[in-house]
Amino acid sequence: MSAGPAILVTGGAGYIGSHVVLALLDAGLPVVVLDDLSTGRAEAVPPEVPLVRGSTGDGPLLRATLRRHRVGAVVHLAASLVVPESVARPLGYWRNNVANTLALAEACVAEGVTRLVFSSTAAVYGIPDRLPVDEDTPCRPINPYGASKHAAEGLLRDAAAAHGLAVVALRYFNVAGADPAGRAGQRTAGATHLIKVACEAALGLRPEVAVFGEDFDTPDGTGVRDYIHVTDLAAAHVQALRHLAMGGDCAVLNCGYGRGHSVREVLRAVERAAGTRLPVRLAGRRAGDPPALVAANGRIRSTLGWRPGFDDLDRIVAHSLAWEGRLRGTGAQLRRGLPR
Ligand code: UFG
Repeated sequence: MSAGPAILVTGGAGYIGSHVVLALLDAGLPVVVLDDLSTGRAEAVPPEVPLVRGSTGDGPLLRATLRRHRVGAVVHLAASLVVPESVARPLGYWRNNVANTLALAEACVAEGVTRLVFSSTAAVYGIPDRLPVDEDTPCRPINPYGASKHAAEGLLRDAAAAHGLAVVALRYFNVAGADPAGRAGQRTAGATHLIKVACEAALGLRPEVAVFGEDFDTPDGTGVRDYIHVTDLAAAHVQALRHLAMGGDCAVLNCGYGRGHSVREVLRAVERAAGTRLPVRLAGRRAGDPPALVAANGRIRSTLGWRPGFDDLDRIVAHSLAWEGRLRGTGAQLRRGLPR
């Protein structure tokens, strides 16, 4: 058992979770992970970190975990997060993202845990009238994923007001990249995210990359997103916990760089990094996709003092590609020229 109160990371065996765990360990903080391993992987959790296998919807397990590990704060990442899947299976999204967040908030209140960092999403905004989008922009989600995360933000806001649970909700834009030292990356099989898909295609692990729509009202007609390196995102969680520990106010903060890249720009960056042409197929728009999402990030800068360290699409892509190579044992080929 470690000296200070632990940080509980739900979803800590997942892609973003494993980077948050590393960032917390690097900051010298004791960590415990709760993960049902539905998409996360046990081997993503460092051996020194206790892994509790279970659901955030399991109230008795949560309460026992909070007590047993003397948890002082929670980083709640466990969630369902694929936009098109949320359109096909909305109720599963409402259960996992809302009902299970409710169970977690209840357990925190019951056990006297007063600090929580919540993984929210840019999908709460829907199709904003203006870009970049700031946190005061009205939330009009256009898919069940965004709606469920928005509802979870709402229940946490009410719990904060009534029960003194201090919450920072981080609205992630498009998270990509991998730990620059190669300790973690995106392991999820069958991932749907653009940079992961394109890196797999560059390595010959997929026959092609589909471009979902080229008739959006964007400069080249393809979808525009604000891609943020997962290491910069993980750092924001550590800073949000520090902010709360020092008595900082509840906050809702965008996590993005404030710059958009189109699907075509991303594919060109992957081609540059891999030194190969990607097999690309034009496909129709995907259900639930907004044309463009770019963050205004002034608030996270001023509230947490957060500063990006990897604000460069080529580095994000290079780290993703290096990770894919490492995962498939072809890292040696790709290590050349890897920017740190
Ligand atoms: N895209 C393709 N081909 C693919 C995959 C994606 O063209 O094979 C396009 C999408 O249509 C979109 C862009 O690439 O324009 C990014 O799509 P992703 O699937 O990588 O990510 P999303 O933008 O759909 O969603 C991600 C997260 C959400 C988050 C959102 C915020 O999964 O949790 O970013 O911008 F809310």
